[in-house]
Amino acid sequence: MITIDVDKPVRVLALEDPRIRAALEAMGIDTCCGGGKPLTEAVREAGLEIDAVRARLHEAMARGKAEPETKRDWRQASLAELTDHIEEKHHAFLRDILPRLADRFAKVVKAHGKRHGDMLTEVQRVFAGLRKEIEAHLMKEEQILFPYLRQMSAAIAACRELPPMHCGSVANPIRQMEHEHENAGAVLSAMRERTSGYDLPDDACPTFAGLYEDLRALEADLHEHIFLENNILFPKAVGMEEKSMGRVHGKGDQL
Ligand SMILES: [Fe+2]
Ligand SMILES: [Fe+2]
Repeated sequence: MITIDVDKPVRVLALEDPRIRAALEAMGIDTCCGGGKPLTEAVREAGLEIDAVRARLHEAMARGKAEPETKRDWRQASLAELTDHIEEKHHAFLRDILPRLADRFAKVVKAHGKRHGDMLTEVQRVFAGLRKEIEAHLMKEEQILFPYLRQMSAAIAACRELPPMHCGSVANPIRQMEHEHENAGAVLSAMRERTSGYDLPDDACPTFAGLYEDLRALEADLHEHIFLENNILFPKAVGMEEKSMGRVHGKGDQL
């Protein structure tokens, strides 16, 4: 049985096992943008008890019947495999849910504008900004960064020189992506706060409930998505570029 070191940063614990990440997120502990804090601090901020959290984490680890995908250790995947997974799972999810959320907002604002108009229109406006930023962000990853990471992966596998990066170093577009992730994380927190943690009002209809359900799903998926990019994909790409610059990589490197 793994022992949870409560003094470790949340992000480090989440990286150790995907079941830990899922359990922390399920308890409302942000593993992506707020992941730099030690677990004890994050637990306190979330208004939880450290012993209860530790017990839930041990339980999640002992369960052992997690979905095969949630058990996959993406640290062992190649850049190409991980970019494919992120596009197929997380980018596709966003392309599906973002337009649906915009429709749900329009319906709920129309039906509940009288009693909850201020809150709803504010969250709708914040969401519209987030949607715009996310859509531009996905294009940048899919058209520029990810194709380059796949080329890097192929070049290193074939022991070839890395292809030239028009931005100088892969660290430059990655920094920009990380900055955009931080903004997205802040917007998610703001939406959660403004809706009192997606707590439905008494007069909510099923469409209102569907809106909050989708917003929760957006938050959960985006946290997982950003976690994979910030903590696995990007550090791996930067590390490979640095290693390649030093010309110390060999054929057996894990890509
Ligand atoms: Fe992405
Ligand atoms: Fe991203």
